Amino acid sequence: MCGIIGYTGNKKTVPILLEGLRTLEYRGYDSAGITVSEGGRLATVKSKGRLSDLEARLAKSAELMGSCGIGHTRWATHGEPSDTNSHPHATENLALVHNGIVENYAEIEEMLKGAGYTFVSETDTERAAKLLDMFFAKSHDPLDAISRAIKVIRGSYAFGIIFKGQEDTIYAVRKDSPLIVAHDDEGGFIASDIPAVLKYTNKYYRLDEGVIAKVTAHGVSFFDEKLSPAEQKTETIDWDIEQAQKGGYPHFMIKEINEEPEAIRKTLEPRIKDGVPYFGIEALDGEFLSQFSSIHIVACGTAMHAGLVGKAIIEKLARVPVNVEIASEFRYRDPILRKNDLVILLSQSGETADTLAALRHAKAQGVYTLAIVNVIGSSVAREADSVLYTWAGPEIAVASTKAYSVQCALLYLVAIRLALANGKLDNEAAKEICSSMLSQIPEAIESALSLDKQIYDAATKLVAAEHLFYIGRDMDYALATEASLKLKEISYIHSEAYAAGELKHGTISLITDGTPVVAVTTVKKVCEKTVSGIREVKSRGAFVVSVCSKELSEQYDIPCDEMIVIPQVSELLYPFPLATVLQLLAYHVSALKGLDVDKPRNLAKSVTVE
Ligand code: M6R
Repeated sequence: MCGIIGYTGNKKTVPILLEGLRTLEYRGYDSAGITVSEGGRLATVKSKGRLSDLEARLAKSAELMGSCGIGHTRWATHGEPSDTNSHPHATENLALVHNGIVENYAEIEEMLKGAGYTFVSETDTERAAKLLDMFFAKSHDPLDAISRAIKVIRGSYAFGIIFKGQEDTIYAVRKDSPLIVAHDDEGGFIASDIPAVLKYTNKYYRLDEGVIAKVTAHGVSFFDEKLSPAEQKTETIDWDIEQAQKGGYPHFMIKEINEEPEAIRKTLEPRIKDGVPYFGIEALDGEFLSQFSSIHIVACGTAMHAGLVGKAIIEKLARVPVNVEIASEFRYRDPILRKNDLVILLSQSGETADTLAALRHAKAQGVYTLAIVNVIGSSVAREADSVLYTWAGPEIAVASTKAYSVQCALLYLVAIRLALANGKLDNEAAKEICSSMLSQIPEAIESALSLDKQIYDAATKLVAAEHLFYIGRDMDYALATEASLKLKEISYIHSEAYAAGELKHGTISLITDGTPVVAVTTVKKVCEKTVSGIREVKSRGAFVVSVCSKELSEQYDIPCDEMIVIPQVSELLYPFPLATVLQLLAYHVSALKGLDVDKPRNLAKSVTVE
């Protein structure tokens, strides 16, 4: 979703804003703009398209030398991507950038029309900017104007604002959309995410909701809703700038797939103590867990698919029923939540609006909530009753890869802990699984990475496809759902994941000569059945890429045109190397098609609107 950057300090602001926006490109955008405070006026330059379009426009206008400014990449919600709809939105008195949605924009528009305002864009943001302008025109006090405006605005927002008359100061405030504030020796920053400021400092404040930040070259001050001074906690990120860069890889996605062994180690090792899962959270380590008679895993997209893996492993090991829920559906369908239910929220970013809304709904029903999140201090992490962090490090590519693998790994640990709590696993059995997870998963992923050339060759056969199917059963089906999403989002090939046994109930009518089918077979107990399903599509002309375990490839004659064999690992652990292989397959198809792998069209990394 939209990216916000702001800088005020001793340096020229334009290069800092452009560089910051570049680090936020991964969030997805279709236009960009900046406002710089320039000799007592606010100069705005904006453009539809990529940052290069904005740069071309900047090159044509008089050079902006100011040292305070705000910048924005817009992911269109209200109104098409266009120069006029892009941010910043400026008035006589101020310029404002926004991430989120002002839900009552129509009501605000009516109010403003009454006060004589007119509008040039279709955006909710212009209405917010003019509302603020109306209050500022009365008091000439930025803090007063902001506090009045946010009392009127309903919806989600992260705002960055500069006012005429205070051209060296940036104001910021947020609700339900992320925003950080940072400062180094030479100036202050606001940003949607840490990579935008990481070059300057690894210390930052994650702004609390409703707190207004006033950022100058000399420091930062915070104000609560009554405009009294407020305290905000400094946080320190332990990533370095290299981790947020490509490090020699052609794309972030391939870099992040290659980081999976390390991410898994970092996530698992500190969570296994005396051979069994240990989270260091009272509610998760003791008997408390045994009270839960059913579990809801709630998430979106890839995280929801990790939930399907979680369901399979929790039901298998702990025998507790699990529903996997799409977060955007969850609260609106009024789910039945009982006292003894546990709601697990999965999210890489911890800022996904649908997941956050689902969490709030569950909490309002009095149900215990556990967040599994990658971004420290994010909204989902802060609001859930307990949080487990997946230590994947920054994930920049829009297509989630390593975050998925570590979510699955943590859900395995939760499953083992639950199984111990309710007596479905004894200590020895739990220890054995944990030990094989630690010793085998990173290595198995390394082996999967070494199949890269073979996977690339298979990808060359899929590049021209318009439609494609993934099939599998049981855990393999869970993996197929994610593989299919990965391919769709970055290669623009339409694909569907099907439970192999379900094809014959309708979808098989779509299989004709040459239809590509990726068949996943690692689950022993259903392998024979999956192989029958593969025969059914093969005999109707499908082009089959088989992705199977070493053991099953030796045991069964799997009919196929291409075969990728996953090196041996304990059966329970195949999802990990399998995920890597399927991610690499999607990656190569997208790269072979020459597409923008890391920033697929229409998509945003962190979806902060409902
Ligand atoms: O940050 P989250 O994990 O909450 O994001 C959820 C989805 O938006 C995300 O997984 C999305 O599906 C990815 N683009 C998939 O690669």
